[in-house]
Amino acid sequence: LDDPHTDPFEVAATAASDIARLTGIERHDIALTLGSGWGKAADLIGETNAMFPATEVTGFSAPALAGHAGTLRSVTTPKGKHVLVIGARTHYYEGHGVRRVVHSVRTAAATGARTMVLTNGAGGIKPAWNPGQPVLISDHINLTGDSPLEGATFIDLTDLYSTRLRDLARTVDASLDEGVYCQFRGPQYETPAEVRMAKTIGGHIVGMSTALEAIAARQAGMEILGFSLITNMAAGIQTTPLSHQEVIDAGREAEPVISSLLARVIGAL
Ligand code: 6GU
Repeated sequence: LDDPHTDPFEVAATAASDIARLTGIERHDIALTLGSGWGKAADLIGETNAMFPATEVTGFSAPALAGHAGTLRSVTTPKGKHVLVIGARTHYYEGHGVRRVVHSVRTAAATGARTMVLTNGAGGIKPAWNPGQPVLISDHINLTGDSPLEGATFIDLTDLYSTRLRDLARTVDASLDEGVYCQFRGPQYETPAEVRMAKTIGGHIVGMSTALEAIAARQAGMEILGFSLITNMAAGIQTTPLSHQEVIDAGREAEPVISSLLARVIGAL
């Protein structure tokens, strides 16, 4: 993937055939990327057909971070939909390039998935929100300065986070609020001034993933649903220092509730 002469879509097609071989499932219907706090959903959405380290699949890198499982799983819902569960996210801040960041999304599309569900743990800007609360992503602002698109690929990003799927999620939980997700490069958390900037330009959620993945998913023609777990309030909104441990702990505490919500939404797709 690092070689500019390599076609990333060919690597994704090879990865998809690896997945077909490892799972015995020729085509998946839905792909689900699990971020901080969402991991338990994998156990709740249906019967597991196969589960294996992501490194067994072409183009996937070893997990960079404790708390990120690094596994891929194929699960079949009670309705018979095949879900590719991606517990292996490559973050932009790892510095391996945007092709690696979106490889799982392109692979999911190559397995046949038409729906991409992206989840993450993130910082909240809306004062009404509380840590541990799940929110829908309504739109994003990509502050990485990068793109998964190469060359003159002018794609439309209107309704990127599908209104139809957000409405469907709210049939499962009518209390779900929504907001605009700002992807920062990270890995440092934002300064209070950067959080004020994000708020001023229309952001409500700050994180280090998802936007680049959503762009690649739209390019692949997938319908996208995005969820953030608010693990903490962003810098300057909360006055105490942010820590990765706080993010992990908030994720762990919210996990049973939000994983069950997510599993019910997947079941409704
Ligand atoms: Cl406050 N910022 C970013 N960028 N990512 C986060 C976060 C904040 N809290 C959890 N993840």
